[in-house]
Amino acid sequence: MADRVRIAPSLLSADFGYLADAVTACEKGRADYIHFDVMDGRFVPNLTVGPIVLRALRKRTDVPFDVHLMIEEPSRTVDQYVEAGAARIAVHVEAENHIHRLAEHLRDRGVSPGVALNPGTSLALLDEVLRFVDFVLVMTVNPGWGGQPFIQDSFDRVRRLADRIRCENSKAEIAVDGGVSTATVGPLSAAGARHFVAGSAVFGSSDVAGAIASLRSSLAKAPPPPDLQEGNST
Ligand code: DX5
Ligand code: ZN
Repeated sequence: MADRVRIAPSLLSADFGYLADAVTACEKGRADYIHFDVMDGRFVPNLTVGPIVLRALRKRTDVPFDVHLMIEEPSRTVDQYVEAGAARIAVHVEAENHIHRLAEHLRDRGVSPGVALNPGTSLALLDEVLRFVDFVLVMTVNPGWGGQPFIQDSFDRVRRLADRIRCENSKAEIAVDGGVSTATVGPLSAAGARHFVAGSAVFGSSDVAGAIASLRSSLAKAPPPPDLQEGNST
């Protein structure tokens, strides 16, 4: 697992009337990615943005786009997100029957493939998947809305997933999404997460760059993740 941590502000908590400004603020705050929450009103009850909005914002920044598809049958429309400029795409294991085919397809098209997992979904569903995805997006709230309370069991869940990844000799990185804040990033990092999606913790502040910096400074104080701890050479 890579040592470097990455922060991906989620636009879901930004003012949708000023999305271009939100994107610029993320760039000024040196965000590693910008996270897009795509919802179809079926996989989750909420409805948000699609490829047209992605494409429009792609012209406004060089920060790579991290796309989280909370949609049924993502393989039907995934190419629209690829063409709109996604750098990485996560599809939910609960929503796609052909994860392997879809991951290979994304990789062929130069997009980093990931799978997302709802809090109530068994980690066992990842057993065959860990070898061919670049990342697992662990939902630390139930998907659908920003600003929900962090599910405390997620620390243990991330730890167990990090163990599985090590056992499988997989290079998959753990990303976390939901309730990520200065209070939760440290323990999540210590548990093994390397990529942090944060909506309300970033856009709930009038100082986006300052909020990103606060997350980074909490991460800098966190104990090392399990794979970098003494006595563990994997
Ligand atoms: C929830 C989304 C998240 C959301 C997180 O379904 O996947 O990306 O924006 O929001 P916070 O950080 O406010 O919990
Ligand atoms: Zn998300």
